[in-house]
Amino acid sequence: MHIYEKRRDIVSHVATLLKEQKTIGFVPTMGALHKGHMALVEKALKENDTVIVSVFVNPTQFNNSEDLINYPRTLESDVALLSKLSTNIVVFAPVPKEVYGAQMISTNYDFEGLENEMEGKFRPGHFDGVGTVLKRLFEIVSPTRAYFGEKDFQQLQIVKKLVELEKMSVQIIGCPIFREENGLALSSRNKRLNRKQLEASPLIYKTLKQVKKDFGIKSVIELNEWVSEQFKNNEILELEYFEIAKISDLKSIKEKQQDTKYRAFIAAFAGKIRLIDNIALN
Ligand code: PAJ
Repeated sequence: MHIYEKRRDIVSHVATLLKEQKTIGFVPTMGALHKGHMALVEKALKENDTVIVSVFVNPTQFNNSEDLINYPRTLESDVALLSKLSTNIVVFAPVPKEVYGAQMISTNYDFEGLENEMEGKFRPGHFDGVGTVLKRLFEIVSPTRAYFGEKDFQQLQIVKKLVELEKMSVQIIGCPIFREENGLALSSRNKRLNRKQLEASPLIYKTLKQVKKDFGIKSVIELNEWVSEQFKNNEILELEYFEIAKISDLKSIKEKQQDTKYRAFIAAFAGKIRLIDNIALN
C-alpha cells in the first residue's frame, strides 16, 4: 500500500493511474477510521480500479478550536485497517501546508443557501472550510467518483453543489449511515464519549425513528414539541436542534406538502461532544 504525505508525490502517482486510464475512487476522511468510513472504502473498491483515501484533519472547517485540538488522530491504526482491507488503496495523509500552501484560508462559498441551514447556522464558516478543502483535494486526486456518507447529509448536498458550481467532473456518491447495534451513528467523535454518554446516545436515533413512524399522523409542530420533550427529560444529552427539512433545499418546514421529500435532522451535545444524525422520512 502506498502512503503519501507530499502533494507532488501523490500527484505523480495519480498521473500514472490516469495515463493507464484507471478509474479512481476517492474517500476523503479526517481519519480515526471506523466501520462507517470502511463501508465507503469498500463501495469505492467495488466500483473503481483504485481507491485513494485521504486522512486530513482540515483546520479550516473547525469553528471550535477545542474540537480541532481534541479531534482523534490515529494514522497508524487507520493505515493498518485500510491495508487489511485491500492492497489496492493509496493513502494521502498530508500536513496542512501540502494542501493549502503558505496561506490557510477558506473561500467564501455561496452554495445557494444550503450553507445557511442547520450545521451552517450553528457552525459558522464550517462549509466554507469543507468546500475549500474538497476542491483542493479533488484537484490533487482527480477522482472519477467520490464517496460521502449520508451521516453528514447536508455536507453531501453541499459537495454536489460544489462540484456543479466549480464544474468538476467527479461523480458524487452518497452512502447509507452505518450504525452501532443500538442505533448510534458511528462517528470518530464517539471515541471521546464516556460510559454514561455512550449509554445515553442511542436516544438520538430512537427519537428519529419515532419521528419517522409518526410523520404521517402528527403535524410538524407536534413532532417538534415531542422531540424537545424527549431531550428535556434527558440529563446527559442536550438538544442543539431538531429540524424536519426538505431534501432539495434543506429548509426546515412548519407544514408538510404533497410530493416533497423530507428528512429529520438532530444535533445534540453529550458534554462537549457534538453528535449529529438524520433519517429519511418519506
Ligand atoms: P469524516 O467525519 O472523517 O467523514 C468522512 C466521510 O465518512 C464523510 O463522507 C462522512 O459522511 C462519512 N461517515 C462518517 N461516519 C459515517 C457513518 N456512520 N456512516 C456512513 N458514513 C459515515 O466528513 C468529513 O470527515 C470531512 O468533512 C471531509 C469530507 C473529509 C472534509 O474534510
